[in-house]
Amino acid sequence: WIAPTLALVLGYVLGSIPFGIILTRVAGAGDLRQIGSGNIGATNVLRTGRKGLAAATLLLDMAKGLAAVLIVEAIFPGNGPLAGAAAFVGHCYPVWLRFRGGKGVATLMGIVLALHWPIGLVYAAVWLGLLATLRISAVAGMSAAISAPVAAALFGRFDLVLLLIALALLVLWKHGDNVERLLAGTEPRIGRAK
Ligand code: G3P
Repeated sequence: WIAPTLALVLGYVLGSIPFGIILTRVAGAGDLRQIGSGNIGATNVLRTGRKGLAAATLLLDMAKGLAAVLIVEAIFPGNGPLAGAAAFVGHCYPVWLRFRGGKGVATLMGIVLALHWPIGLVYAAVWLGLLATLRISAVAGMSAAISAPVAAALFGRFDLVLLLIALALLVLWKHGDNVERLLAGTEPRIGRAK
């Protein structure tokens, strides 16, 4: 039980690092909680007008998911998926932010890349493709999350399907506000002020 427990703890701690909050605060770009959707992710960092900060948030939130899986898999073979799930939960429910974390899209991208990179490619294609065409981050992110278990099944990684369905459901759950705004026609597009 030691390996799975350590995998959970390591994954959770890595995943719970709120890079969006840290970077915007350090850069003096304001309080993310008071900006746009109030979310801690790269999309909301972009609403501060600081593209570099948003890109760094995206990369670091992705990297922590990727690192959690790869590091734990290297130390405790077979426990990578568990660490990835824990990192995802850490990002979405970080104890340091009274469990009010992000929506998991970037972190899940890193996790699937590390678990089975072809799934990561599908995820990135769906995400970037929809982002470029629709310019609605939440729709692109939710669609990418849904594509992950589908891609896992297509690539024959049935061992990952249930886990990825669970994580995709959590991504959808975390986008409740976005879905409400989408239905009301008030969800902002990327590249417009609010
Ligand atoms: O990854 C988060 C994104 O899907 C939505 O972010 O700030 O528009 O709620 P936001």
